[in-house]
Amino acid sequence: MSIRLDDVHKAFGKKKVLKGFSVEVTEGETVAIVGPSGIGKSVTLKHVNGLLTPDRGTIVVDELSVPELDRDGLANLRRRVGFVFQFAALFDSMTIGENVAMALRRLEGWDEERIGLRVSECLELVDLQGMSDSYPSQLSGGQKKRAGLARALAPSPRYILYDEPTTGLDPVTTSVIDRLLLRMRDEVGVTGLMVTHDMTSAFRVADRIVLLHDGKARFVGAPEEVQSADDPVVRGFVTGDPALFYGNAS
Ligand SMILES: Nc1ncnc2c1ncn2[C@@H]1O[C@H](COP(=O)(O)OP(=O)(O)O)[C@@H](O)[C@H]1O
Ligand SMILES: [Mg+2]
Repeated sequence: MSIRLDDVHKAFGKKKVLKGFSVEVTEGETVAIVGPSGIGKSVTLKHVNGLLTPDRGTIVVDELSVPELDRDGLANLRRRVGFVFQFAALFDSMTIGENVAMALRRLEGWDEERIGLRVSECLELVDLQGMSDSYPSQLSGGQKKRAGLARALAPSPRYILYDEPTTGLDPVTTSVIDRLLLRMRDEVGVTGLMVTHDMTSAFRVADRIVLLHDGKARFVGAPEEVQSADDPVVRGFVTGDPALFYGNAS
């Protein structure tokens, strides 16, 4: 069981964003794809749940070829692959409980009682118990992110994709979210693929880190391997040196 991207190419008009990107995420691990803004992290993630189709290359989730899935196939895939959006994307007119319940209402065999139990369970998993009747506008930024996570978690996906789970949060809230992501892996048993430009967070949460550079996976390794890498591009990103990262030092 795994998520596998192989030699994925994607351009928008003349702009080539992915130029042969590959990554594999195996069951039980959390992988972080890192890179600066605009490099193609969200684009990569959107290929995994079929929001974008590649120009070329392979995207396989549990032996399913994602670009070939029809409407029903995609709906099935998305039950297996939860997505936590960068800005939580909660519906403001619905309570937190209703937001989390939404993903379950479409499933067969879920009556209101079962939905209610699962909603409570998921809110508890993200430490938002008691917040079910609150509205998104009443929540802090970190709480909204946690509510988005509870919603992704509700249908018991095998995988969760996280788009910038800690971006825009203060350091204390960031470490709360990071701990939750570790809880997803260690207690809930969800396999995670996150994209982020927050290296601190990637170092804390990821089993393996993939550096996206010039449309490809420039470096893949455990956090300590990233920290000790000789590759100037890796060092450029880790230390925040654009000349090294983009190679335009001269
Ligand atoms: N739907 C789209 N149409 C055209 N260009 C897009 C689209 N989505 C992303 N891009 C472009 O692709 C590049 C990578 O975007 P993105 O993956 O969102 O970057 P990030 O690494 O910050 O998540 C950007 O230049 C962005 O403008
Ligand atoms: Mg993005």
